[in-house]
Amino acid sequence: MNTKIIGTGYDLPAFTADNDYLATLVDTSDEWIVERTGIRVRHLAKEETTTSMAVQAARRALEHAGVSAEDIGLLIVATITGDTETPSTACRVQAEIGAHKAVAFDINAACSGFLYGVHVADAFIRSGIYRNALVIGAETLSKIIDWTDRSTCVLFGDGAGAAVLCAAEEPGILSQSIGSNGDKWEVLACQGRPNENPLCEKGGKPGYLTMDGQEVFKFAVKTVPVCVEEALEDAGVTADDVKYFLLHQANKRIIQAVAKRLGQPEEKFPMNLDQCGNTSAASLPILLAQMDEQGLLQKGDKLILSGFGAGLTWGACLLEW
Ligand code: UT7
Repeated sequence: MNTKIIGTGYDLPAFTADNDYLATLVDTSDEWIVERTGIRVRHLAKEETTTSMAVQAARRALEHAGVSAEDIGLLIVATITGDTETPSTACRVQAEIGAHKAVAFDINAACSGFLYGVHVADAFIRSGIYRNALVIGAETLSKIIDWTDRSTCVLFGDGAGAAVLCAAEEPGILSQSIGSNGDKWEVLACQGRPNENPLCEKGGKPGYLTMDGQEVFKFAVKTVPVCVEEALEDAGVTADDVKYFLLHQANKRIIQAVAKRLGQPEEKFPMNLDQCGNTSAASLPILLAQMDEQGLLQKGDKLILSGFGAGLTWGACLLEW
């Protein structure tokens, strides 16, 4: 039995902030942001929440797949910015869309979260435990950003993407390579959370994202090509056989460096980061859904999805569309 993606959907906040707008908040410029990252515009949530965008993306993916919410056995939301610490965003999405028979839970693997979700869903589907799974990546990173820190606030955006995965006879997910390295957790972290314990001292860590940008950059450029090559080798597929490499949309220069290391033309690396910025766990499913919407994906196409993020975490998934 194989696992196949049979429907995708995405949702983005209505409000967009261009680089000039950010230059009114911090000491930056459109020129610097475009040159160092490739980002021009990002969507930022005003009315939208992580849950509301996850719900919209899920509804679109289900409609596209022709699958009823009632038929979903497993519902996973990858997020680091749930609206509630508990319950999980997945349980709230479950209630909103009426996926009453699903087991619902969140995954915290930052920007690799969607790939982790696909990894888990694939294992459950292949083992015959569930037939249909809904995997969502959804984030409102804007609420954990330090809006006075120019080295991070220009990078991120909000949004959600979703995919319906189902058991299939025909080829779907061909191989995956996934990993974590907790030794490097401090490189990219959001440590703040309220502590009401009367036995503890007040204070603590800031509630926003902190990052060593250059360390993350180096890690990404080194790790992504390795896990992509592992996934290819595992399936006996060459990089030349792959139509598109969908990489986590963090930085154009990272994507270009990975393309170079893999010896593949940049045209095979679609990007939406100029319009969305880095939406963490939502980045890959949004890009996949947009490409699907634009009719760029044909049956039989081989695709690689690959990402990296806080943890540190990473992953690559080779699939046949
Ligand atoms: O999902 C994973 C999330 N994280 C990432 O993907 C981050 C990966 N890293 C990166 O994308 C890059 O490292 C950044 C875009 C974050 C930074 O680019 P960089 O080329 O590594 O710049 P840098 O950190 O070496 O900084 C160069 C200069 C510094 O000024 P000085 O010390 O040379 O005077 C920074 O203060 O650029 C300055 N700078 C800025 N200037 C204008 C940093 N951010 C900005 C800014 N506008 N927004």
